[in-house]
Amino acid sequence: MTTTAHDAITFRAAAPADALCLGVLSTQVFLDTYATQGVSPSLAREALAQYSVAVYDALLADATVTILVAERAGCLVGFAQVKDGLGHALVPAAGASELRRLYVQERFTGRGVGRDLLRHAEKAAAARGADTLWLTAWEGNVRALQFYPRCG
Ligand SMILES: CC(C)(COP(=O)(O)OP(=O)(O)OC[C@H]1O[C@@H](n2cnc3c(N)ncnc32)[C@H](O)[C@@H]1OP(=O)(O)O)[C@@H](O)C(=O)NCCC(=O)NCCS
Repeated sequence: MTTTAHDAITFRAAAPADALCLGVLSTQVFLDTYATQGVSPSLAREALAQYSVAVYDALLADATVTILVAERAGCLVGFAQVKDGLGHALVPAAGASELRRLYVQERFTGRGVGRDLLRHAEKAAAARGADTLWLTAWEGNVRALQFYPRCG
């Protein structure tokens, strides 16, 4: 199979009009990743509360949040979400940003999209003054736990 411009995955900062697709894509990836035993009421509540279009409308209007999207043929296939100026018990707040989400749609995983989004997120955080980008991963998310060390 040959790669055409139509197949190419490109990266850009999210725009307000992306809230609709970000809400739906994040819901899909969240459930694929965490609803490994089916959909429980608590997961369903979390999906509806945290991954709605309204939530992304608000995030895209928040000057302390950066969302970078991976796009193919006009469709979102992944995104990274960074929150400025947020520390952690193990990371001093000064100069720290959190990689809050890094989500790639399942059928586009394993192609370097996650790695590229992570690099773009690191650059975006540094450009906004961060010297540290931190994240937490669920201990049951074996793939993520293998992915981050592979990306350095
Ligand atoms: C984790 C995730 C972001 C990785 O994105 P991806 O696009 O599949 O990863 P890439 O193709 O860019 O892979 C980058 C590196 O990680 C490695 N990697 C990716 N998936 C892996 C897996 N399942 N097992 C081992 N290594 C893996 C790749 O081999 C590659 O390393 P290499 O170049 O040295 O071979 C993606 O699988 C995802 O969105 N998962 C669901 C949501 C999630 O769990 N997000 C993270 C929450 S903390």
